[in-house]
Amino acid sequence: MRRDYGGEADLQDLQRFAQRIWSPGSRWHIGDLAWNLGQAPTTAAGRPMALWRIGAEPVAWGWLEAPDELALLVDPARPELAEQVLDWAEGVTSAPPTVTVFDSERHLDAALRRRGYSADTEGPYFLAHRRDLAVLPGVPRLPAGFVVRPVRGEADLTRRVAVHREVWHPSALTEERYRTLVRRWPYRSAFDVVVEAPDGRFVAYCLGWYDEVNRAGLFEPVGTLAEFRRQGLGRAAGIAVLRAFRDAGAETAVVYARGDDAYPVPKQLYAALGFAPHARTVSYRRRRGRVSG
Ligand SMILES: CC(C)(COP(=O)(O)OP(=O)(O)OC[C@H]1O[C@@H](n2cnc3c(N)ncnc32)[C@H](O)[C@@H]1OP(=O)(O)O)[C@@H](O)C(=O)NCCC(=O)NCCS
Repeated sequence: MRRDYGGEADLQDLQRFAQRIWSPGSRWHIGDLAWNLGQAPTTAAGRPMALWRIGAEPVAWGWLEAPDELALLVDPARPELAEQVLDWAEGVTSAPPTVTVFDSERHLDAALRRRGYSADTEGPYFLAHRRDLAVLPGVPRLPAGFVVRPVRGEADLTRRVAVHREVWHPSALTEERYRTLVRRWPYRSAFDVVVEAPDGRFVAYCLGWYDEVNRAGLFEPVGTLAEFRRQGLGRAAGIAVLRAFRDAGAETAVVYARGDDAYPVPKQLYAALGFAPHARTVSYRRRRGRVSG
């Protein structure tokens, strides 16, 4: 029932699977999958990836997002499938991969430990943050001449890609990739908010993704150009997206940010936006040749 990832059709299946098993403690929101896998104009995943199905229903997924790093999703109702994902990944890599999951994904922790992997909580990690959307602040006033608003499709595309590329320089994003992303589910421009400077440049943005089944929005990614930071632009873009989520029916927003002190600023922004952490990533490793016990 395992099949290597076949592209576009599988991406939707994978996203529907992530949506079906999603909770705020899940590693993968449909928007993360769109952002990470939905930009390629071709449908190839680039790195080894496989889906396990029972009948037509996806029940597990594995992705070697780097040659020795495994990301996975396993239906909590079928935790035993984690073994099959690990069998596959260990067969593809030359050494057992590092497997990163959230500590809230208890079924994966149990499967990894059974297999002889142990948790490593040293080094960089990510925190999952959440925020209830019942009570939201208004969008703050910006410096004179700055405007916060959703993008307006193709007309804004060049500036939209430029602000992302400058924040994340050197960035792999291209106009062609963005065009592909915005055509795919579940992108909606209502959640793609930018701050426009008086000279017309886009100088900050927050890209939101909305899962209407789970009534949960996600930020991925967020950025402000270096020379415009600490002026409240990131906060304004974030609040505008939170309000757009709520207008669409969302009850919760989530965002992932580095939790360790080597990269502290995003979690400070999210704290300022009312998010609180509720889970962290843990990396599991197994020494080569060690047999599960
Ligand atoms: C994270 C980032 C988007 C913040 O944008 P910003 O426009 O500077 O943020 P704001 O000015 O709206 O800050 C709002 C609040 O967040 C917190 N904050 C933001 N930057 C901070 C910093 N460098 N140190 C401490 N707190 C900070 C503060 O509470 C701030 O409120 P205050 O200025 O009234 O104290 C920006 O630093 C950035 O683009 N970084 C690189 C890309 C990145 O890491 N993105 C996030 C991960 S996807």
